Amino acid sequence: MMMIAMKTETTVTKSSLKNIKAGLLVLPFSVKSLKKDAPKVLGALGLNDRALKDFKAAAGDTLLFYPGGAGVKASRVLLLGIGEGAATEDYRKAGTSVARQAATCEVQSVAVDASSIVEWSARSALSLEDIAELLTGSILNATYRFDRLKSGKMEKDKKKKKASYEGISRLIFRVNAGSIKDVEKGTVSGMVIAESQGVARDLVNLPGNLLNAVDIARYASESAEKHGYTATVFNKDAIDHLGMGGLMAVNKGSKEPPTFTILDYNPGEKSKGTVALVGKGVTFDSGGISIKPANGMDEMKCDMAGAAVVIATVEAAARLGLEYRILGFIPSTDNMPGGAAQKPGDVITTYSGITVEVGNTDAEGRLILADALSYAIETYKPDTIIDLATLTGACIVALGYGVAGMFSNDDNLAAALYDAGQVSGEKVWRLPLWDEYDELIKSEVADVHNTGGRGAGTITAAKFLQNFIGDHKHWAHIDIAGPAFSGKAGAKAHGGTGFGVSLLLDFLRNM
Ligand code: BES
Ligand code: MN
Ligand code: ZN
Repeated sequence: MMMIAMKTETTVTKSSLKNIKAGLLVLPFSVKSLKKDAPKVLGALGLNDRALKDFKAAAGDTLLFYPGGAGVKASRVLLLGIGEGAATEDYRKAGTSVARQAATCEVQSVAVDASSIVEWSARSALSLEDIAELLTGSILNATYRFDRLKSGKMEKDKKKKKASYEGISRLIFRVNAGSIKDVEKGTVSGMVIAESQGVARDLVNLPGNLLNAVDIARYASESAEKHGYTATVFNKDAIDHLGMGGLMAVNKGSKEPPTFTILDYNPGEKSKGTVALVGKGVTFDSGGISIKPANGMDEMKCDMAGAAVVIATVEAAARLGLEYRILGFIPSTDNMPGGAAQKPGDVITTYSGITVEVGNTDAEGRLILADALSYAIETYKPDTIIDLATLTGACIVALGYGVAGMFSNDDNLAAALYDAGQVSGEKVWRLPLWDEYDELIKSEVADVHNTGGRGAGTITAAKFLQNFIGDHKHWAHIDIAGPAFSGKAGAKAHGGTGFGVSLLLDFLRNM
C-alpha cells in the first residue's frame, strides 16, 4: 500500500517583500489594517492601489496582481483578507483561499507576509505560534489531493501529464526579527497537523479493495516504527482467543481476516495521564445480510474513518511530543454478506460477556466497538476514553454533514470537546444519554439488542455502546458519519475530510 508523501519545505525569513522569490506573494490584511496599511504596502511594491476599491478583506477574500517590472521578485501578489483576524476561523478561511489560488495558478512556492503577526495576535486570543500553525495547517490541508490512483495513461495532452500540479513545495513566512522563533515553531506543528490530516484522508479515500483490515494494521505498525510509538496487532486467532465476539461476528461474512490494533504513544515521566481513543475500522460496510441499497454503497469505503482519525491523531501526538499517554484501539474488518455471514436474529457474546441480539447486521459498528471499549478499559484503565465512529445515518439526519454528534457521561469532558470543536472548526453537538432510551434496545432473548427501531437512531447506538464501558466515568462517543466524508463534488473537500484530527489534537493539547 502506498502512503502519502506530501513534503513541503517551510522557511521563515526577514528579507524584504520585494526580494522574496515566490510564485505567489501573499499580503494578508485585516479589515482594520486595510485602509491604513494596504496603500503603503502596495505602493512600495509598485502596485496600483485603486484596486483596493474591489477588496473588503473579509476572511478568505482575495485579489490577485501581476507586478510588472517594479523590482518585485515574486511573479504574483495576492491580497488576502483575514477579516477581523480575531478567530481561528478567520485564519483558516484565509489559508484555504491561499491554497486555492496557488492551485489555480499552479504555483509551487508561496510566501506569506506575516510582518503584522504581532498585531494579529494582540487582536485575538491567539499566540504568534497559534497563528503560524493555523495558516500553515490550513494552507497545506487545503492543498491535499487524492490522485495516486490516476495513472495518467488517459491524459490526452502528454506534456501536461508530466507537469501535473503537485501542490505547494515551498512555504515561506516573512516576519520581523522578533517573531522568527515563534513562527518557526508554529509552521512546524502546522505541517505535522496537515500531514496527519492527510494520513486520515488517504486512509479513508483508499477503497475497500486497496485497504483492508490487515492494511490498516500494517499502516499503523509502519507509522509507529517511524514516529516513535508502538503498535501491537492481534490477528484473527488472537481476536478469537480473547473472546471478541463482536468483531468475530461482523467478520464472519468476509473472505479477509479481521485485525485489532493497539497504538501506544507513551511520553514516559512527563505523562500527565492516559487517554484512550477507539476508532471504528470497517473497511467496507455492505450492510452484511441486512444489505444496503446499491445507490451510494460505494461511499461505505469511508466506514473506517474513525480508525483513520485515531491513527492520524496518535501519529501527530507522537510527532508533537504531547504530554499524555495516548492509546489507540482499532477493531477492523469489512462487513460482508458471504455464506458464513452472521444472520439477523443471531445472538453473540461480546468480549465483556454481555450477549447481543443482532437484529440488523448493518448495525455492525457498535458490535466491534463494544469489544474494543471493554477491552481498552479492562486492560489499560485509561483516565479518559473517547470513541469515534461513522456509526449512524441517523446522526446525519439529526445534525447534517458538517457537524458530529457527541455523547458523554462526563459534563467536563463534553464541555472540553465542545470547546475544541469551536476552536478547531470541527464542531460537535451533544445529544442525551437519558435512561429512557434503554427501553428501545431491550432484547427478549439476549442482554441487549443492536438496533432500536425507528426514532433516535443515533442515541440508541450511543446507549448501546454505553453498556460496554462498565462504570467508567469519563467516556465520550463521537458519531462522525456526517462530516467524515464528502460525496459532493465541489464541496469543501471531496472524499475523506480528516474530520476529527484537529478536534482531538485541540482537545488533547488543552487538557
Ligand atoms: N456505517 C453505517 C453508518 C453510516 C451511514 C456512515 C451513512 C456514514 C454514512 C452504519 O454501520 C450503519 O449502517 N448504520 C445503520 C444502523 C441501523 C441499521 C440501525 C444506519 O444508520 O442505517
Ligand atoms: Mn452498517
Ligand atoms: Zn458501518
